[in-house]
Amino acid sequence: MLKYFFISTLLAIIGIFAVAGWQGKTFTQPPLEIFPDMVRQPKYQPQHTSDFFADSRAARQPVAGTVPVGYNVKGYYYYNGASNSQDVDRSNGFSGATDYYSTGRFGDAYGDGVPVPVDAALLERGRQRFDINCAVCHGRTGAANGIVTQYNLVGVASFQDDRLRQMPDGQIFNTITLGKNKMGAYGANIAVEDRWAIIAYIRALERSQHATLGDVPKGLELEVKK
Ligand code: HEC
Repeated sequence: MLKYFFISTLLAIIGIFAVAGWQGKTFTQPPLEIFPDMVRQPKYQPQHTSDFFADSRAARQPVAGTVPVGYNVKGYYYYNGASNSQDVDRSNGFSGATDYYSTGRFGDAYGDGVPVPVDAALLERGRQRFDINCAVCHGRTGAANGIVTQYNLVGVASFQDDRLRQMPDGQIFNTITLGKNKMGAYGANIAVEDRWAIIAYIRALERSQHATLGDVPKGLELEVKK
């Protein structure tokens, strides 16, 4: 009888120590590691040193001329070359503002019209951005025959459909920003002014497939008719 009393007292003491003994002590590692954690991998911790770089700093400065996503070098919106200017501005980048320029909407309604001057430079920029971001699915002419459609992506919208031809510019802006059904959102990748440049270019693509003789400048009609 006494034996059991001693054994149970001993177990109780061990139990109390097991539960309360390490109270207040903080562990930096989980006690049990079933799958090896990603803690152990070649990487630099913030503010640590590096043997690889001559100045021993693991945290590197951005390469000179780097423009952060969402910023532009002042006065160089269409400028694609490297620049050493640190003078960046945010006005043409990514905007969370609620005006028409930044959303394509007036309150609940989509607006129509491109709110930046449409000139050859903007269209050229739009062509470039469209070919980079949209043509894989929508096709270079906007006819929904991009390369991805040959790999079983069905249902890509054609810009040559009357529905899209009549769609307000603001709605296209909204689709670029937020996506639509199967189409992903590009708002995080394409700066606001670039979205408008793409829309202006899409309008040019639509026009190119629906031109009439009336679109031909005076004096050139004869040559076209021949
Ligand atoms: C990965 C393929 C893919 C890319 C890239 C893509 N789209 Fe789309 N887009 C789609 C698909 C698929 C649909 C049809 C969505 C649906 O189911 O209604 C669509 C639909 C649209 C529509 C019609 C939306 C509506 O309301 O019916 C517009 C406008 C559009 N895309 C614009 C663009 C623009 C501009 C770009 C480039 C910035 C772009 N898309 C890039 C796949 C793509």
